[in-house]
Amino acid sequence: MSVYRIEGGRRLEGRLTVRGAKNASLKLMAAALMAEGPTVLEAVPRITDIETMISVLQALGAQCHWLSDHVLEIDPRGLNRWEPPDRLVRRMRASVQVMGPLLAKMGRVRLTYPGGCSIGARPIDLHLEGLRALGAEVVDEGGYVEARMVQPRDAVIHLDYPSVGATENLICAAALGSGSVRILNAAQEPEVAELGRFLNRMGARVRGAGQGTVEVEGVRRLTGVRHAVIPDRIEAGTYLLAGAITRGQVEVGPVVPAHVEALVARLEAAGCQLAWAGGRGPRRREGSLALEGVEGNPVDWVILRAERRPRPLHVRTQPHPGFPTDLQPQLMAYLSLADGTSLVTETVHTARFNHVDELVRMGASIQVEGRTAVIRGVPGLTGTTVQADDLRAGAGLVLAGLAAEGTTVVEGIEHIRRGYEDLAGRLREAGAAIEEVELEEEPVPAGV
Ligand code: UD1
Repeated sequence: MSVYRIEGGRRLEGRLTVRGAKNASLKLMAAALMAEGPTVLEAVPRITDIETMISVLQALGAQCHWLSDHVLEIDPRGLNRWEPPDRLVRRMRASVQVMGPLLAKMGRVRLTYPGGCSIGARPIDLHLEGLRALGAEVVDEGGYVEARMVQPRDAVIHLDYPSVGATENLICAAALGSGSVRILNAAQEPEVAELGRFLNRMGARVRGAGQGTVEVEGVRRLTGVRHAVIPDRIEAGTYLLAGAITRGQVEVGPVVPAHVEALVARLEAAGCQLAWAGGRGPRRREGSLALEGVEGNPVDWVILRAERRPRPLHVRTQPHPGFPTDLQPQLMAYLSLADGTSLVTETVHTARFNHVDELVRMGASIQVEGRTAVIRGVPGLTGTTVQADDLRAGAGLVLAGLAAEGTTVVEGIEHIRRGYEDLAGRLREAGAAIEEVELEEEPVPAGV
């Protein structure tokens, strides 16, 4: 069993490089199935979720090759199946993102129900209702979902909730074909905007992706393109919080400044000093939010300096541009050391407090009441052995370990590997004492 062993209490100092966004790469890979020729994606992170999506695409008949370290070619010309294997769909919920592309390209898709996961029940009802509205016949029974495009039609779809995955699946399903579709109350996450940009470069007609209303006019064909994925805002946020929790000084990038504003505002409110290396970030102090750059995505490096315990905060996770749920566990680790009582309310996922018991074992004082965690800041945490149950909970525990006194052992790092490329190596470059070690599994005592 591999674990991270962390000797806490060292200030992070240095540069932390951010890879391409996991949650954008996965959707672009699925969308590449709709093209008539190969697509090349640059800045794709080397993480296990990407490997799982490669296996999904290969099982459907596409070919995937790493051309170099972070450059992935997807050739969909061999696409000949519409049913991704059950074990892969169960391993990674994002496998459901092939639904829209397969329906558009093959007219049909069947997959096992992805079910719940450790951060709460995550149904796909909004995906399925939307596909029905586009003219698909959807059968949802016996743990499987099967959709066939029967009568493509124009549609106005109002999502009950701005689901990221449903918005993306519906944009893809509508991109290829003869219909014209408006999606209202669409998710506004940067990864949705990125998918829209990517599809348009392939020849699609998508307007407003990344805003509340998205319009898609189907086209007859899409072509393969070469495209560089946006930086991962959650990875960037994790590194900023790592700098903050160790009261260090870190330079994190590349990031698109507009993608990390919700976190930057909270870090400033907590007492950190932030500046943009290239001066191209949101220039709050000069009163201008204007951004410049290529394709609406200027990148910059953000410099964070933290000197003392954070001031307490009240934070609610919300769909973008609200505070991202995927940074909630890392923020909670940070606030567990605040000088006062913080409130963190999780509104996006139903059960995303896996990390709380583990933080408490490290000395944090946290009580969960419904969807809100009341965090009474303590002056210090103490290292112990903790278990990561999901990707971002794992990142939160690593951050707690960096700040704790003594040794922290984080188990369950396979969850962390799903979304962070060599997290330990990257943190070490900024001065952290963290290493991956192989532990012998302890034998389970007989008769228990
Ligand atoms: C994506 C991200 C995930 C992030 C989440 C919210 C990927 C691969 N994953 O997940 O990291 O935490 O956005 O920012 O991009 N819901 C329904 N019915 C549906 C769809 C969603 O009730 O049909 C609910 C979910 O149960 C959840 C909430 O809506 O409580 C948010 O889900 P959604 O926005 O769809 O997130 P994902 O796309 O699954």
